Amino acid sequence: MNNKTNTVQSFFAPGRVNLIGDHTDYNGGLVLPVALSMGTYLTLSHRNDQLCRFSSDNDQAVFELDEAGMSQHHHCWVDYPLGVIKEFTDRGYHFHGYNFHFRGNMPIGAALSSSASIEVVTALALNALIDNHFSTLELVKMAQHAENDFVGMKCGIMDQFAAGFGKEGHAIALDCNTLEYKYVPLALDGLRFVICNSKKKRGLVDSAYNQRRQECEEALRILQKLVPIRHLCQLNTEQFEKLSSQVSGQFSDTVLRRARHTISENERVKEAVQALRNHNMPLFGQLMNASHASLCDDYEVSCPELDFLVEHAQQFEGVLGSRMTGAGFGGCTVTLIAENQVERFIEEIGKAYEKKFGIEMEGYIS
Ligand code: GLA
Repeated sequence: MNNKTNTVQSFFAPGRVNLIGDHTDYNGGLVLPVALSMGTYLTLSHRNDQLCRFSSDNDQAVFELDEAGMSQHHHCWVDYPLGVIKEFTDRGYHFHGYNFHFRGNMPIGAALSSSASIEVVTALALNALIDNHFSTLELVKMAQHAENDFVGMKCGIMDQFAAGFGKEGHAIALDCNTLEYKYVPLALDGLRFVICNSKKKRGLVDSAYNQRRQECEEALRILQKLVPIRHLCQLNTEQFEKLSSQVSGQFSDTVLRRARHTISENERVKEAVQALRNHNMPLFGQLMNASHASLCDDYEVSCPELDFLVEHAQQFEGVLGSRMTGAGFGGCTVTLIAENQVERFIEEIGKAYEKKFGIEMEGYIS
């Protein structure tokens, strides 16, 4: 776009913590994320040449790129904004001569969707340059597509959706099949959600994630021989058990367990949304615990560090439930706990974790 003024504009998109419903989004299921007050800020200013410059408070690398450079992969954080720029370019919008400066106040690569917040904040900024031509939902879809296509992580839509639609004091009950969503008030009287960051480096998370996705697609293909479904989450556990016993020879044990997690997790989200609406927080906590067990045993995306934090939390006074959150293989846990125990909890679990793994855990109150 050439129509520039001298102004500097600032934008923000939040990270998220998912309360329950992991690895359901790309299976057409339900999720229950909450946007965080932490996220990514972007300041956009214009420059007098045709280049775009990308810099970040969180990284020393600076990229000054012409149009050809912007269509290349750089295999680091800058691929997130570049992927989003490509989405706009593919729709006929070209951007030259801007400085993009990012500042994140959230942990990176900790399963709290720092990448989605970079994508969505970029989309919001570019949209402002074209008089907000696209709706928030279109921006969210473009941000997800950027990650799928340009970055190569075949994520579902939960993270970008939460970054685009998050609302203070509410969880988002999102149906990832229809994209219908409802805000559910977080009436937490005397309780808190605490996030524990294991700081475990998430090696190979993209490839392990994409592999889980393929396993779910394989389960779907087998089941589609029996029923006309488009997504695994169209089945409930009872239907799944009946159908899978008819084609048992065709399922490997791994594929069977992946599908079982997906379908049971979807049911747990349904129940959890009801529990939240009915202020039945003990039930909500039990569903969180069951979710962790399923992600650990059937989906195999937990790790010793997350299991330690969850098991420790589940035994702690005042805790109603605890689970890993997000893609897994490291990152964070989320724990529902009595407010008056929070401080002691973070301190004691932090000590125990450091003793066991030699890593200093970080706790955040959402
Ligand atoms: C990552 C992906 C999401 C979702 C979660 C797991 O955060 O970006 O789309 O699949 O993992 O629930």
